[in-house]
Amino acid sequence: MAFKHWPLVRDVRFAQKCGRYLHGARKRRPDLNWDEFRRIARHFKQDDMGSYPERGYLFQLACDLPADAQVVEVGSWMGASTCFIAGGLRGDRAKIFAVDNFQGLSTCGEDAAWYGRHFRSLGANSTLDIFRANFAALGFTARTEPVVSDSLAAAKALAAKVGAIDFIFIDGDHSYEACQADIRAWAPFVKRGGMMAFHDFGSRADGVTRAIFEETKAGRFAEIIGVAGTIIAFRM
Ligand SMILES: C[S@@+](CC[C@H](N)C(=O)[O-])C[C@H]1O[C@@H](n2cnc3c(N)ncnc32)[C@H](O)[C@@H]1O
Repeated sequence: MAFKHWPLVRDVRFAQKCGRYLHGARKRRPDLNWDEFRRIARHFKQDDMGSYPERGYLFQLACDLPADAQVVEVGSWMGASTCFIAGGLRGDRAKIFAVDNFQGLSTCGEDAAWYGRHFRSLGANSTLDIFRANFAALGFTARTEPVVSDSLAAAKALAAKVGAIDFIFIDGDHSYEACQADIRAWAPFVKRGGMMAFHDFGSRADGVTRAIFEETKAGRFAEIIGVAGTIIAFRM
């Protein structure tokens, strides 16, 4: 086991890194419930899919949504980003549709190799049970509906929700073609004035950056509302 994964080392690293992030976050947004953020972050302290500024930004975007907001996430993996969003939602009818094949199937070559290694070490071929267990552990089960599907097939299955979604977060297949197809398939679902955000803009996933950049130039989004790490968020 790598030194950074030793339980004591992991706890100290969590306390330091999350504590540093929260120090600034509490000053910037004293109105938000950062204890809830910390509770979720503690549960996911082994997660390496996103940084605290990125997780915190998702939490903040979710907190700023209206009560009973409807959210779609494309690419949920084990549910970490999904739970940070769930933690910010308000209202008994707030819901996140978590779209994922839960098998890491991706047309992005680099990702496909990474998922292959990960599933071998997990000894499983799906992350759906882990996703569900994480939601249950944090008490968020009622706020999510996993949609076990390829992204574009899910967009067809959920067609009744076009124009009814408050926030869409895209973090699925990172190839240029797939990201472009996701933007085009899912943008019509967002309400006017709603938000669409992406992970990995400006990261080594250059297909994601290119697709978002081209769609921005083509006028797909009304305005950029924020950037945190490699997350970029747009008003629609
Ligand atoms: C980077 S991971 C998501 C990480 C997660 N958002 C987080 O931050 O914790 C990408 C996910 O997208 C899923 N995925 C890749 N291509 C997909 C597709 N075409 N349709 C649905 N899900 C897909 C993979 O199974 C994987 O779980």
